[in-house]
Amino acid sequence: MKVLVTGGLGFIGSHTVVELQNEGYEVVIIDNLSNSSEDVLKGITAITGKTPLFEKIDLREKSAVRDFFKKHNDVTGVIHFAASKAVGESVEQPLLYYENNISSLVYLLQELQQKPEASFIFSSSCTVYGQAEKMPITEDAPVQAAMSPYGNTKQIGEEIITDTAKVTNISAILLRYFNPVGAHESVQIGELPLGVPQNLVPFITQTGVGLRQELSVFGNDYPTPDGTAVRDYIHVVDLAKAHVIALQRLLNKKNLAKVETFNLGTGKGSSVLEVIHSFEKVSDKKLPYVIKPRREGDITEAYANTDKANNVLGWKAELSLDEAMASAWKWEQKVRNK
Ligand code: UD1
Repeated sequence: MKVLVTGGLGFIGSHTVVELQNEGYEVVIIDNLSNSSEDVLKGITAITGKTPLFEKIDLREKSAVRDFFKKHNDVTGVIHFAASKAVGESVEQPLLYYENNISSLVYLLQELQQKPEASFIFSSSCTVYGQAEKMPITEDAPVQAAMSPYGNTKQIGEEIITDTAKVTNISAILLRYFNPVGAHESVQIGELPLGVPQNLVPFITQTGVGLRQELSVFGNDYPTPDGTAVRDYIHVVDLAKAHVIALQRLLNKKNLAKVETFNLGTGKGSSVLEVIHSFEKVSDKKLPYVIKPRREGDITEAYANTDKANNVLGWKAELSLDEAMASAWKWEQKVRNK
């Protein structure tokens, strides 16, 4: 069974390719290397003993997408990660985000709709909930007006898939991730942010190795127990496994609707200070940090209600925040000591 993983050399994509190969799937990756490297293939091979097929394609090129499906006409399962994901950049260059994240999705679906049957897993985000009124967040919490073009591409993406699934043979699962962190325990693959990391955990680990002087904690005046913002940090390996389960659900026709939505999180909220303390515990290092004003566009808290993922999808996050931080730290040290 051949599965297409777009963005398969990226952070979540590469971990998912590993889990797919571990389950016996043949994988073909499409990646344009805009935020990844071909070296990731070596890491995947070292872990699984198998090198996935790789096509360097930019999904904005419609004819290249068409040619891909002619060549790999046995692909009926797709996990679609390939997208731009920097919130700030999306505010500055909205059209780049709309073009990259939306046109690639449309071209993929245009090819898949020609098949008698197709299964599509979409990389969405808890960002669609904005600041939800109730914690933990269930899948039926209302989708709120997006706070950035990036967030909007996830909402529009979900709508495009839903509209298309209604009238085609495409079945889809929308996976709304909370905050993916960590690295594979083998330290062969992990997160490789370009430039200064915008996300908390890579900024912490880069500060830990001395690449950054100190971490800025954005706000300690939130209405939370310690005043810092709360998120649901999920180990990327747990997240990767959820994709395999979601794909199997569609392939085995266990889905209850043409489009299903699941939150992927641990169900536990952690504050920025708790993440720092977890890092300090597993690394046995003090992390230098300063309190700064809130970051614009940030919400107070977001953590998942995982009942639907646990009971309907049959998946549960197994790994703890400490395990995620320990793996992220091991990975950072490996990357810097190369
Ligand atoms: C961010 C995006 C979200 C996207 C996700 C992808 C924003 C506003 N949201 O989520 O849309 O889906 O990344 O991974 O950018 N923090 C610090 N100091 C730092 C960095 C972060 O204190 O240097 C804090 C933030 O204020 C936040 C928490 O750490 O409270 C997590 O931040 P981050 O890792 O950027 O994730 P989100 O903002 O939740």
